[in-house]
Amino acid sequence: MDGTVELLPDRRALDGLGRNHSLRTALADLVDNSIDAGASHVLIRFIRKAGRLRGLYVVDNGRGMSAARIDVAMTLGGRRDYAEKDLGSFGIGLKAASFSKAKLVTVLSVAAGHAPVGRRLEADSNKRGFHCDLVTEAFAKSELSRDWDIPWSGTGTVVRWDEVFGFPATDDTDRVEEFIARSMAEIINHLGLILHRIIEQGRIEISLDVEDVDQNLVGPRSRVNSIDPFGYVKPGKAGYPKELRAQQGDLPVVFRCHIWPARSRMPEFSLITGAEKHQGLYFYRRSRLLQAGGNWDGVSVPARERQLARVEVDIDGLPTALVAMNPEKSRVQVGPDFASLAASAVADDGSTFADYLSDAEERFRASRKRLRARKAMIPPGRGFAPLLKRVIRDEIPMQGQQIPITMRWIRFDRAHRDDFFRVDRTDRVLWLNERFRPLSKSGRRGSNDAALLKSLLYLLMEQAFTGEYLGVRDRDNIELWQEILSTAAKVDAGE
Ligand SMILES: Nc1ncnc2c1ncn2[C@@H]1O[C@H](COP(=O)(O)OP(=O)(O)OP(=O)(O)O)[C@@H](O)[C@H]1O
Ligand SMILES: [Mg+2]
Repeated sequence: MDGTVELLPDRRALDGLGRNHSLRTALADLVDNSIDAGASHVLIRFIRKAGRLRGLYVVDNGRGMSAARIDVAMTLGGRRDYAEKDLGSFGIGLKAASFSKAKLVTVLSVAAGHAPVGRRLEADSNKRGFHCDLVTEAFAKSELSRDWDIPWSGTGTVVRWDEVFGFPATDDTDRVEEFIARSMAEIINHLGLILHRIIEQGRIEISLDVEDVDQNLVGPRSRVNSIDPFGYVKPGKAGYPKELRAQQGDLPVVFRCHIWPARSRMPEFSLITGAEKHQGLYFYRRSRLLQAGGNWDGVSVPARERQLARVEVDIDGLPTALVAMNPEKSRVQVGPDFASLAASAVADDGSTFADYLSDAEERFRASRKRLRARKAMIPPGRGFAPLLKRVIRDEIPMQGQQIPITMRWIRFDRAHRDDFFRVDRTDRVLWLNERFRPLSKSGRRGSNDAALLKSLLYLLMEQAFTGEYLGVRDRDNIELWQEILSTAAKVDAGE
């Protein structure tokens, strides 16, 4: 060699960063930074101007940054000392997340005992070199002191994205509203899931809103609630969750194996894309979920029968040759020894991964079998809330070719004033007496109201709609139900 030269990266390097990010994973990276900064509150705010979505803010009340710190923060691969709990690790998160979604990122921050500081980076390939713009103290101050409405004790950080990619290029109100609603739901679900342990520990509160700059209006605030992918009430099988242990050198690796109850409709089970897609391994690092199942990383393969199986693995301290996270922290990569390590894991009772998987499969099959043994019924139709319809269709085999049963409220004529219902077998309608219609708690009375009453009536009376004609027994039953239900309704009404 004949000496060294320093080769500064070109700013084009920014373009390639964070290509695997979606809006929700990019925001997760910024929220990670806020958590590392000890923030108790984070606000994600969409900015709307002249009808169009223009930018986005992530604001926290963490410890903030001094001028020296913020320069490191804006540096690609900028290094700091990471503490035990820190989510940060590569020194690229902020830059990669920001430039995957925006052309311009501005960071404004104030730390205790320091003046407010600000820096701006632009992913603009016309400029050469790796320069960062200094923001005036006055601007930093004004951005930091906007009305963010989060608890504030003098320190914190604002990350601002301008010229965001992927926002709809329109001021059409419906489309913008739809985009906001969808994005917010995705972000709330994603953050609630990956940060569920940290939220449950009470370390952070995250909320989202939209500001309309022209109208000087901030919309209602949505809060991120934790979504625990292991949050069932009772496990699908007794004896679970079960811990299987393996040894990687001196390090214990624990596989916490769960079996969900069959056909759960909890959002914690269905998550975002349906339960089947979320079987498998859930890797956590420093309490943050990196990967929400999706596959078995060589330990097994995804299959319908294994949809109740989810395994919790904490990877803290494990060598990256065994498991490594991707820079976006949205996946892990397992090494070649991982599958055999898992296969060597055993529980206190001597059972193995294979035993666990067959327990989960057996549980799933048993629940299917029970379902098939149930007698097929006429499907519920109009008048039933969509969720109720779905549950009924999930739980009971349906006579698919039959016209569904409708339930509707109507004013009964004088002669039938006291009747509770009327069966119309030809059109498959169960008419319900408007006079006895219960008031809903929300005060709204849509046509899909009174789910509890309707589901009971459905279970009780579905039979009255089957068959060519009404048998003597059915007729007698209908009279009996009529008598009892209308008396009950009158008792409830205090008549
Ligand atoms: N909201 C914030 N409050 C205080 N400091 C921050 C904030 N965001 C970023 N920083 C500082 O900027 C540095 C760089 O952040 P960046 O996300 O790029 O990397 P990292 O968090 O260190 O590692 P990783 O690439 O794993 O995210 C952080 O280490 C932190 O010191
Ligand atoms: Mg980071």
